[in-house]
Amino acid sequence: MEAGKEENGGNDMKIIAVMSPKGGIGKTTTADSVAYILGQEHGKRVLILDGDPQGDTSKTFDAYEPEGIGMSELLERHANVGGNYRTSELIQVTRYDHIDIIPANGYLMRTDMNLMLKQEENQVTRLCDALSEVSDAYDYCICDCGRLFDMVVINILLAASLIIAPVKVGGFENEALYNLAEQVEDLKEINPDLSIKVVMTMRQKNKTSLQVEDWIRTSSGFQMFTTPIRRSIVAEKASMAMMPLPEFSRRSIASQDYRGMVEEIIEETS
Ligand SMILES: Nc1ncnc2c1ncn2[C@@H]1O[C@H](COP(=O)(O)OP(=O)(O)OP(=O)(O)O)[C@@H](O)[C@H]1O
Ligand SMILES: [Mg+2]
Repeated sequence: MEAGKEENGGNDMKIIAVMSPKGGIGKTTTADSVAYILGQEHGKRVLILDGDPQGDTSKTFDAYEPEGIGMSELLERHANVGGNYRTSELIQVTRYDHIDIIPANGYLMRTDMNLMLKQEENQVTRLCDALSEVSDAYDYCICDCGRLFDMVVINILLAASLIIAPVKVGGFENEALYNLAEQVEDLKEINPDLSIKVVMTMRQKNKTSLQVEDWIRTSSGFQMFTTPIRRSIVAEKASMAMMPLPEFSRRSIASQDYRGMVEEIIEETS
């Protein structure tokens, strides 16, 4: 049995992490868009976890509070580890019927340090244990990650079955991907089901972009979503408006691409 997972295989909720060791490459935009399309357009029950102390996803879903409770309490003060919170008490509803969230704020950095110091306790499988309490209530759990392999992100990756790894062409893409794959290989000793799937983000139709895409698809050894996400100025506007891109502009090319990507996710996970 995998650490922290239900022996009866009753964990229905698919846990998907959006992670890359590179910054500013569309992790949050991807997590927000995938969560929105799954929840609001496909009627799936979605739980979002914000695994980044920047709290960007929490801001998109109106749940950001600098002093509020959320992911830090889930990891540090859950009843499983002697605290006084159950998972459901940390879940907040959003303005969307099918989307709930456990938000994050800057305290998540302190949580990372506190977990690192608790070496004798189950410091890396806490999230997996906590999520099993709500696995019947949701179809998907979408986790936005920060770009460091800190204790928070390791907890997420050990609970997840899929990592969506956004790649933006701009240099060192292969290095970032291989770094991610190396770390994931180590985590697979505890979570053997974990796989990585690349998605191109902010894709432009120039020669370099197409070459990188071709390399990933044909020779890198990584799985890749068939649908690349095209670059669209509307995405930046959606971020500034703190709205999920497919809601901000239903018809933007990037929103259409995210819909194609979500079709692939549903197909693979149903
Ligand atoms: N398809 C796209 N086309 C154009 N701009 C995009 C696209 N996707 C995301 N962006 C923009 O790129 C910027 C970075 O995106 P985002 O915040 O999603 O990246 P991130 O990887 O989560 O960053 P961080 O490492 O800071 O968490 C934002 O301004 C966002 O609006
Ligand atoms: Mg982000």
